Amino acid sequence: MTSDFDPYTLLAHLDGSGPVGSHPISPPIYQTSTFGSGDAETFLAMATEPLHAGFYTRYGNPTTRAFEDAMAAIEGGEAALATASGMSAIVATLLTFVSHGEHVVAQRALYGGATGLLKNIAPRLGIEVSFVDQVDPQGFADAIRPTTRLMMLESPSNPMLRLTDLRAATDIARSAGVTTLVDNTIASPINQRPLKFGVDLVMHSATKYISGHSDVSAGVIVASKAKIESVWEKAYILGATLDPFAAWLALRGLRTLPMRVERQNQTAMRVAAFLAQHPKVERVHYPGLPTHPQHDLACRQMTGFGGVLSFEVAGGAPVAESTVAGLRLAHRAASFGSFSSLVVHPAAMWSGMMDAEQLRDADLPPSLVRLGVGFEAPDALIEDLDKALAAIPR
Ligand SMILES: Cc1ncc(COP(=O)(O)O)c(C=O)c1O
Repeated sequence: MTSDFDPYTLLAHLDGSGPVGSHPISPPIYQTSTFGSGDAETFLAMATEPLHAGFYTRYGNPTTRAFEDAMAAIEGGEAALATASGMSAIVATLLTFVSHGEHVVAQRALYGGATGLLKNIAPRLGIEVSFVDQVDPQGFADAIRPTTRLMMLESPSNPMLRLTDLRAATDIARSAGVTTLVDNTIASPINQRPLKFGVDLVMHSATKYISGHSDVSAGVIVASKAKIESVWEKAYILGATLDPFAAWLALRGLRTLPMRVERQNQTAMRVAAFLAQHPKVERVHYPGLPTHPQHDLACRQMTGFGGVLSFEVAGGAPVAESTVAGLRLAHRAASFGSFSSLVVHPAAMWSGMMDAEQLRDADLPPSLVRLGVGFEAPDALIEDLDKALAAIPR
């Protein structure tokens, strides 16, 4: 962790506001859908001021704003916009920066929902998309056209844990006047802060590490104030708003993010090292392993390697399925960044969202298992994995 960034102190001292002479240590929940004003002039100002957090909750809300301010601070950005899910953050960003007849450059290794948006919905809106292999930054440069408006990045990617050189990709985009969006969900701002590499917008599925307790669906975008205002102008019309109670839960979870992420970094590293030497495991994908093909890049742009890893078992899809079924501690459940370990067989899980061609393009090996470690003792998790793998016939 860099010395000028202290997420512990920052998150411990986000004050709530309250009556003079005292203040709530935890901010109140403004569980209201609308806000009144006695005079017409103030009411008009409330209705027309961008990002106003006290007019109508679909436009903004003080509790949601408290979460947004905390996210802006922890990502090192000017402003943030909370949304109802990670996907609504991606949709609102796409519709803000790209119009009919324009073009997006996206990395191929992108979260399945984002790929679905770009492949199935964007073309119906007249938006063209080029997918590139993000491992070689030159691919981004080659794909840019005069009509390119947005570059969509994700690092590390879900579920193959491939990295994108954020500085190189951003430099390419910037020199062509293209806006950059990075999905920072897997890393979390504790392990990676993309804005310092020149990225324009950072988004999270706050459903994962940010909230951290498998009890909230939320998304968030962090960027300059001007860019956040532009996204807000679309998001409140789309109805992509996060509701105040969910925002309060997300902020509550966020307070403990550094402790949770550091623990999960350590556990994932131990589990990855165990799997890497296991005879029934063919490959482990984890940027913290020196054998990861982009480990040097991971050391340059990340300060921790995260709590998500994936591995390929010998024997294909049926063996991946029985490995998942054999685990007692990890729940078979979508998502990651929870208190308990969550495991999935991505090729099976995403077969509903993607057709065979998309699955092939997405580079999802049939034998891949994705594990998002929780807070269990690392030894207990390793023992659980050892038993599940031992139960597989050779
Ligand atoms: C990397 C990544 N980005 C975005 C999303 C979408 O977020 P949400 O489910 O909150 O809409 C997910 C969800 O799994 C994800 O893993």
